Amino acid sequence: MNEAFSMRLAREDDIQTLEVLIPLSVRTLQAPFYSSEQMEAALGPVFGVDRQLIRDGTYFIVEHAGQVVGCGGWSRRRAVFGGDSARLAEDSTLDQAHDPARIRAFFVNPDWARRGIGRLILSACELAICSAGFREAVLVATLAGEPLYASFGYTVVERYEVPLSGGLTLPVVRMTKCFDRNDPLFEK
Ligand SMILES: CC(C)(COP(=O)(O)OP(=O)(O)OC[C@H]1O[C@@H](n2cnc3c(N)ncnc32)[C@H](O)[C@@H]1OP(=O)(O)O)[C@@H](O)C(=O)NCCC(=O)NCCS
Repeated sequence: MNEAFSMRLAREDDIQTLEVLIPLSVRTLQAPFYSSEQMEAALGPVFGVDRQLIRDGTYFIVEHAGQVVGCGGWSRRRAVFGGDSARLAEDSTLDQAHDPARIRAFFVNPDWARRGIGRLILSACELAICSAGFREAVLVATLAGEPLYASFGYTVVERYEVPLSGGLTLPVVRMTKCFDRNDPLFEK
């Protein structure tokens, strides 16, 4: 099924498209897990475009017949989630020898859910993370995202709630995965 999709790095001129895709994905695919008040409060600060990932060349776009159907990426920087709208300074970089890389901001068009797009992007992220010399990845998953990461062997470290405006909170899951040094993902 994957052969119908093409993947490339996101560009600055994708941002407008992503700003439509992200709310569509959130409002549909997260609806079984969060209230509309939670989703609306999280759109922007928690679920939004992080231009830093695009500038770093660590954010992927999946297209089908020229239409953007999914996005997601990884990061060599400290932030574990969130758009960049509220960030005051540049997000600082991690040390790949000691810090876990971040898996960041996966959003799939609901019409294309459960077609392997998340799996495609996550595989590309893990390959890039290992190639960059990281030995571990960490992420903060939504309840909608947890099954995807669990299916890749990420384990739950902590369940907690991200504070939102209006006294609301968003239940999320911190998950981690260590990469095996003998894994063929590593460059020898
Ligand atoms: C999470 C998300 C990115 C998954 O994308 P996707 O393209 O639908 O996922 P895939 O089709 O690649 O799924 C791969 C595997 O993950 C697991 N999985 C994914 N979604 C699942 C779901 N809703 N229920 C159970 N398992 C699921 C399954 O094991 C699946 O394999 P299978 O379909 O062969 O059973 C998508 O649901 C989404 O965009 N959600 C809204 C935004 C969001 O919350 N993003 C996560 C941020 S952490």
